[in-house]
Amino acid sequence: MTESTIAAEDIPVLEVTDLEVRFGSGGATVYAVNGVSLSMRAGETLALVGESGSGKSTIAKAVVGLVEPAAGEVLLRGRTQAAQRVHRDKATRADIQMVFQNPVGSLNPFMTVEQNIAEPLRNRGVGKAERGARVRELLDMVGLDADTVGARRPGQISGGQAQRVSIARALATEPAVLIADEAVSALDVSVQATVLNVLRRIVDQQNVAMLFISHDLAVVRNVSDTVAVLHLGQLCEIGPTEAVLSAPAHHYTAALRAAVPEPGVPLGDPGMTDADPPSPRIKPTGCSFRDRCLAATALCAAERPALTMVGPDRGVACHHPLERAARAADPVPSTLGAPA
Ligand SMILES: Nc1ncnc2c1ncn2[C@@H]1O[C@H](COP(=O)(O)OP(=O)(O)OP(=O)(O)O)[C@@H](O)[C@H]1O
Ligand SMILES: [Mg+2]
Repeated sequence: MTESTIAAEDIPVLEVTDLEVRFGSGGATVYAVNGVSLSMRAGETLALVGESGSGKSTIAKAVVGLVEPAAGEVLLRGRTQAAQRVHRDKATRADIQMVFQNPVGSLNPFMTVEQNIAEPLRNRGVGKAERGARVRELLDMVGLDADTVGARRPGQISGGQAQRVSIARALATEPAVLIADEAVSALDVSVQATVLNVLRRIVDQQNVAMLFISHDLAVVRNVSDTVAVLHLGQLCEIGPTEAVLSAPAHHYTAALRAAVPEPGVPLGDPGMTDADPPSPRIKPTGCSFRDRCLAATALCAAERPALTMVGPDRGVACHHPLERAARAADPVPSTLGAPA
């Protein structure tokens, strides 16, 4: 199903093709990711959204090589990567870096901030003097002052500062791809904005491709160029963030958006039935959203909808896409902002 890969003029930095990931075996199999394709260019932020359990982190782990896919490939600059991280060469490991939700837990508590950031450089054989200069530069990049925080330990700085330190450490090896998995979810809203600004600046200035994972649509809207909506390991919809979120083509995207409270506006129609999502332990057939979808027909159970392009950069996997979006999507070029 290579048609589900969004075409790029230049070679994409990162591609995921027809990815399938399962956990366990036999009756206990969890179908976590079921045929997902993504493509990212340098300087682009792609957000992965979807409920808890939709497979966001599993996709990230497959990209990094921490889980082995049942099918599909991860390509870095067009080159197929070994499924397991240990089988990837040092350079490609350094090229894909990840920032996690819990910043303090992902730093070494016994090392200072400077030592934490310097560690990946030391592992690469960068000399002491150069390391020192580079650490200052990295701290500067994330808006922290080496003289103020450099000698402190992770436990002695705030959560937002610790997250900026983990970002600096992830950038130490000049990665082509930065994965941020719920990287601001644990932070206070006021601190989130600072960290998001840092991430946005890095994507612009360092020209990295960022895979940004979040369940928070407001955050996603703020930070990403492209959004990919996942439901139970299937890609429902993908396209320019503003266009997708302002006029969803998939009923699940519409339901996710309806669930976001807006100040002064009462929560609208949830846009889906109150059925529980199907168990990830059942081998998926048809559309994974059909039990919750108000527009589902027999076709949705019989046949999995293929990702169909409904605009230049916009794809939807639905047999009965929302008409409003289908109409809006036709004339909309890849610029942001679909007509209302
Ligand atoms: N190591 C594992 N063993 C068994 N099942 C797993 C494992 N890791 C994830 N899963 C299952 O795979 C599915 C996808 O999980 P994943 O963590 O990728 O979801 P997520 O979208 O990141 O959710 P969240 O928003 O809660 O972080 C879930 O059903 C989850 O329970
Ligand atoms: Mg997760």
